[in-house]
Amino acid sequence: MAQSNRDGFTSTFGALVATLGSAVGLGNIWKFPSLTGSNGGAGFLVVYLLATLLVGLPVMIAECMLGRSARADAVTSFERLAPKGQGGWKVIGWMGFAAALLIMAFYSEVAGWVYAYIFKAISGSIATTDPKVAGVAFGELVSNPWASLFWQWVVLGLTGFIIAFGVSKGIEAVTRRLMPVLFALLILLCIRSLTLSGAGQGLSFLFMPDFAKVTPAVILTALGLAFFKLSLGMGTMLTYGSYFRPEQNIPATAARVMLADLSVSLLAGIAIFPAVFAFGFEPAAGPSLVFMTIPAVFTSMPGGVIFMTAFFVLTAIASVGAILSLLEVPVAVLSERFHLPRKGAAIATIGLIGLLGVPAALSQGTMAEVKLFGLTAFDLFDFLSSNILLPLGGILICLFVGWVYGLAGPERQMAETGTPMNRLTIRTAFFLVRYVAPLAIAVVLLNGLKLF
Ligand code: PFF
Repeated sequence: MAQSNRDGFTSTFGALVATLGSAVGLGNIWKFPSLTGSNGGAGFLVVYLLATLLVGLPVMIAECMLGRSARADAVTSFERLAPKGQGGWKVIGWMGFAAALLIMAFYSEVAGWVYAYIFKAISGSIATTDPKVAGVAFGELVSNPWASLFWQWVVLGLTGFIIAFGVSKGIEAVTRRLMPVLFALLILLCIRSLTLSGAGQGLSFLFMPDFAKVTPAVILTALGLAFFKLSLGMGTMLTYGSYFRPEQNIPATAARVMLADLSVSLLAGIAIFPAVFAFGFEPAAGPSLVFMTIPAVFTSMPGGVIFMTAFFVLTAIASVGAILSLLEVPVAVLSERFHLPRKGAAIATIGLIGLLGVPAALSQGTMAEVKLFGLTAFDLFDFLSSNILLPLGGILICLFVGWVYGLAGPERQMAETGTPMNRLTIRTAFFLVRYVAPLAIAVVLLNGLKLF
């Protein structure tokens, strides 16, 4: 096994930034606000926070650690680490492979909307605070089949090109400099949003929980979001962990990524909800929420067009880091297991996503009436991946680490690599992974799907 030739992150800081780049993306700016809005606000936020702390963080540590021990793609890693005769665990890797394609099918579409909004921002056509006008502009874009497919392919072409360059020259180089600027723009948006008259209502929607709205389906959605946000349950963090250097402090990296990711989501929430109420938008608007409210906030400030354009450019860039990590799961599997050259693996992956992406791209227009279980292709892919595949993958990863791989592996790894590691941290994470997380996920999953 030519492990020394394997590509990887060139520094611990680069790895931290790339991992953060995977977590931060459309999930913070698009999915978090729309789900919070359509699931009742603060009660959802509380459940999401609990899920992130008690399940997300320990699973993230476990995944990164598995990857670094195995130093292989998501499928091969389980094969390598499982005891003899238990190769079946590699099904977790294949589930991740499938989840990556499904997520990419709709994620690339939303990213495409963001790209299109850059040009709409420049042209001034979305400079409005009127919910009706904003709704028409969004509707025109998403219901137009050619525009939807075109923008999706712009995203796929661009990210496919970057991923073909590999880990250090592609992923690490691109994600490195972008986060601080996005952060600054979000803070600017928050300030404007909070100074709108009527902002208070939005803040109480976001921060004053009404637990009557927290149903089992809402809890499942919050758990699914926790997985989606931190890119867990599908081998993404495992694959990134396999590129970590020996001295990377995994628990500290995971904790930093979690905190930074949460802050970006909260900033997005604070930028959006006061404006939703101040301008009379509908908090439960769903996927269109961000595309209507963000332009409204910018429109209400001086120099709005410039900031609005910058915001969509940065959101597009933030989506790149997340997309690269989504692509890396299948690309690594195809190139390492099937010995495809990296470029070939990238092309094959993009081709598969392109196929799955067609129904997702058309589901707000031409194929809006084509539904399975009452869901359009877009919603079905989202539900299947976030609410089923990721939590299920999470349970299996926890069972694997907690009951098959065991505590000795992580402890030995920490000691061998010379990382000053707090035994208590590792033991606490292990306890959560062995007992708390799999049980909690199982109960939420069965309950949320009404199977229990
Ligand atoms: N975490 C990304 C976001 O919140 O936008 C989305 C994502 C990336 C999910 C990578 C899953 C994944 F493997």
